[in-house]
Amino acid sequence: MTIARDRLRVAVQKSGRLAETSLSLLRRAGLSFRASRDRLFLYGENLPIDVLLVRDDDIPGLLMEGSCELGIVGRNVLAEQRLTALPGTDAPAERLALGFGGCRLSLAVTDGGPITVPAQLDGLRIATSYPGLLADWLAVNGIRAEIVVLSGSVEIAPRLGKADAICDLVSSGATLAANQLHELVAILHSEAVLAASPHPLGSAKAEQVERLCARIEGAQSSDG
Ligand code: PRP
Ligand code: ZN
Ligand code: MG
Repeated sequence: MTIARDRLRVAVQKSGRLAETSLSLLRRAGLSFRASRDRLFLYGENLPIDVLLVRDDDIPGLLMEGSCELGIVGRNVLAEQRLTALPGTDAPAERLALGFGGCRLSLAVTDGGPITVPAQLDGLRIATSYPGLLADWLAVNGIRAEIVVLSGSVEIAPRLGKADAICDLVSSGATLAANQLHELVAILHSEAVLAASPHPLGSAKAEQVERLCARIEGAQSSDG
């Protein structure tokens, strides 16, 4: 159930790779904010647009239930949501690609180990936080592997003996290197996107969304 609100709400990652750039993009788009005491809510001072600071993985759910009209999240998180949503539920839609937070979802294995090509994963276990995207890729590539779902610290699964390979996001590659892992293949390329709630908006809010998108595009094109 949603309580009528006339202010727009944008969900943004609280901490992590997208957090700072997401907020600075909104500021460059001309929005100014005052933080709440717990720093989880940013009140829009010059426009009726507020920001909610949350875990990135929670952003699709907030959009689906209508608690927020917009969110800044990795395309990978949206794509996973689309694949794992219950049939008949409307998933959030990508409105704008934002050109930062580039990364890829990759299969990775232990350095010096026996696996050198993805086909060798047949019959083995792969740890991931993206079971939908991984299952989809495995099916397309005709590989039958067991998917071990972990919500975090996926990169330590091989050392714990919980999996033979992982499927996780890679940006700089530092996390893989620190865990003596290397990429076999990238299964999805991703970047930060502006995502919209599937709930229909009244005309005033729809207009605010259009204006915010235009401001963001303006800020992007002046980035040089
Ligand atoms: C991803 C991934 C790795 C890290 C890889 O996590 O799970 O931990 O980034 O980045 P690197 O190649 O630059 O080392 P993310 O930042 O998305 O955070 P989350 O898994 O906690 O959502
Ligand atoms: Zn996350
Ligand atoms: Mg991580």
